Amino acid sequence: MTADYVNGLFGLDGKVALVAGASSGIGAEFARALARAGADVVLGARRVDRIQKLADEIAAETGRKTLAVALDVTDEDSVQAAFDEATAKLGTPTIVCNNAGLARPNWALEDTEEDWDVTMNTNLKGMWRVARAAAKRMIENGKGGSIINTASILGLGVGPQQTTYATSKAGVVHMTRALAIEWQRFGVRVNAICPGYFVTEINDTFLASDLGQRMLQQSPAKRAGKLPELVPAMLMLASPASSFTTGVALPVDGAHSVRLA
Ligand SMILES: NC(=O)c1ccc[n+]([C@@H]2O[C@H](COP(=O)([O-])OP(=O)(O)OC[C@H]3O[C@@H](n4cnc5c(N)ncnc54)[C@H](OP(=O)(O)O)[C@@H]3O)[C@@H](O)[C@H]2O)c1
Repeated sequence: MTADYVNGLFGLDGKVALVAGASSGIGAEFARALARAGADVVLGARRVDRIQKLADEIAAETGRKTLAVALDVTDEDSVQAAFDEATAKLGTPTIVCNNAGLARPNWALEDTEEDWDVTMNTNLKGMWRVARAAAKRMIENGKGGSIINTASILGLGVGPQQTTYATSKAGVVHMTRALAIEWQRFGVRVNAICPGYFVTEINDTFLASDLGQRMLQQSPAKRAGKLPELVPAMLMLASPASSFTTGVALPVDGAHSVRLA
């Protein structure tokens, strides 16, 4: 009975989910979790060998259908092609984890125009491209859906050497709110997850450094998050349990973002 109740709220049986940036870190963890919760999963990224291997592993573990599609979020044609392939092979994705991102930490005076352009084109415009491609198909499908943007606590506050990254993620938070309002009438919910620090390829060198270790020690939890600790917030936003939740930017950060001193 309890399992039925929980599954009725959070289960994803019969859904198709797409994860952008599924080849490592948070996106790989999300793809695994979505299949474990019952969804068929499309994994998108540029490193196709990695997502193909992961797709095979997830299918073997969960028995769900999986599909690896080449996806470069900086290229509109690639985004459209990935959604077309996903829709043709597995059906319209009604859960989309919009997660592709990169970081080039540096002092603002050292940043180049190329650093700014690549960061914005991936983290902000890339998420805009994926969100629009997803919503268009959800609306055509007539069933709506849930888009979950991976923002960051650096979209809520700022840190050293993060001017460009933090600005891109603040843009993601605000875009999430704007799209939530605009697409509510179509039944498309748009929310953001704002992770604190989780060790992945984007930050493993920094977090292992003296500076990174000091930063973690000064955070309220005194540690990085573990990837499975990020999953339940995503599953809640993906599932029918959050049918009245849209336009939210949800920190999952051990209170890192609320500490003032
Ligand atoms: N780890 C953290 O502490 C943390 C905290 C806050 C927010 N985030 C955000 O979480 C998201 C995932 O990062 P992560 O920590 O899991 O780092 P990661 O392991 O480096 O993963 C980044 C993912 O983004 C993909 N990606 C990058 N550029 C892409 C492009 N042009 N087109 C398609 N995919 C692209 C990468 O795939 P390919 O290289 O194979 O294309 C990879 O799958 C990012 O948006 C990041 O900003 C992370």
